[in-house]
Amino acid sequence: MAPAFRVHVILVVLVCSRLSSVMGTNATESVVDVAANLNASIFVDFVEKLPESLSHYLKNGKGPFTLFVPTNAAFAKLPANIRNQLQTNKTYMMDVMSFHIGEGLELKADFINERLIPTLYSANTQKRVRLNVYQKPAEKVYTASGAPVSRFDELASNGVVHLLDQVMYHLPSQSADDVIVLAPEYLQLDYLIEMSGLNASTIAGGGPFTFFAPTNEAIYSLPPGAMYEFEVNHMALIAVLQHHIVKGTYYAAGLYNGQILQSYLGQDLKVILNGTVVLESVDSPNTVTQVTSADVSVTDGVMHGVNRMMLVRYN
Ligand SMILES: *[C@@H]1O[C@H](CO)[C@@H](O)[C@H](O)[C@H]1NC(C)=O
Ligand SMILES: *[C@@H]1O[C@H](CO)[C@@H](O)[C@H](O)[C@H]1NC(C)=O
Ligand SMILES: *[C@@H]1O[C@H](CO)[C@@H](O)[C@H](O)[C@H]1NC(C)=O
Ligand SMILES: *[C@@H]1O[C@H](CO)[C@@H](O)[C@H](O)[C@H]1NC(C)=O
Ligand SMILES: *[C@@H]1O[C@H](CO)[C@@H](O)[C@H](O)[C@H]1NC(C)=O
Repeated sequence: MAPAFRVHVILVVLVCSRLSSVMGTNATESVVDVAANLNASIFVDFVEKLPESLSHYLKNGKGPFTLFVPTNAAFAKLPANIRNQLQTNKTYMMDVMSFHIGEGLELKADFINERLIPTLYSANTQKRVRLNVYQKPAEKVYTASGAPVSRFDELASNGVVHLLDQVMYHLPSQSADDVIVLAPEYLQLDYLIEMSGLNASTIAGGGPFTFFAPTNEAIYSLPPGAMYEFEVNHMALIAVLQHHIVKGTYYAAGLYNGQILQSYLGQDLKVILNGTVVLESVDSPNTVTQVTSADVSVTDGVMHGVNRMMLVRYN
């Protein structure tokens, strides 16, 4: 054997043994095989629909990858329009699939609240998978971009697989401000925010935050005179907007019945789960609002559209 070749062989052995010791495993199967063994056949079928170079990279590349794999049950509960987009829109399918392929090895022990994981979707930007750890009264819930993790740390030769109860289909491709400017259901909110002279990010004092964002319906439902009050008193408007924002990223999976969240204004919001997510403004009794579109991931946290505006007493 030529000396140069021998050195190469030794290096390969060294790299491989280091990878096994990092993973504490001698797994010989790729992340895709591990997903298949976990019966995630719908996800594996989508891997086969990726361009050959990418599916080959996942199966044969060294990684390490952190593969977030939605179960078949997770795919079954997708909204019909999203399932349809995944089947018919190749660009969208590619985006969603690459968002499930994390770069680097992230084990359960690495799940730290608000940690951001780069993926193949947009490796060098803030458009990352957000990990959250929620301590509920009876359990700890771990989520990846809002999707609860149901099984952790299934080790592979080139990474690790975590099973998800939901598909991460709402990609954080925009900031909350961008969503408000661009989405038709926030036309009225955009108008109010512009009137306040601020933007969502400055109102919240920076991210990550949870914005219970009033939809057009919420603003059309304001009592008479409220709009005039906002126009003449921008401080009152800013206070009301701050009352719809909570520090930290609270996906729906992180909320529980009776939970008290403090709004950025400093007043309490009580979470009521009655089949939907409802918020009650504790200091302004009879002020409730209902989440009508949950878990819109944004680069600076999460947005939930709500159908009423919670007015607060403002001095
Ligand atoms: C991996 O293989 C080595 C050598 O055969 C063995 O000593 C070690 O216990 C194995 N590790 C695991 C986690 O199975
Ligand atoms: C996968 O399906 C097989 C056959 O139904 C079953 O025996 C096995 O327990 C399943 N594995 C997992 C991880 O659910
Ligand atoms: C397909 O998906 C891409 C990426 O999400 C989107 O920009 C585009 O508008 C979609 N095309 C159609 C026809 O829906
Ligand atoms: C929000 O306003 C601040 C201060 O004016 C500005 O620095 C920031 O770029 C704005 N953010 C967006 C998303 O427009
Ligand atoms: C949950 O509470 C909200 C606000 O009180 C109400 O509008 C909604 O109808 C309730 N939903 C159910 C399923 O009871």
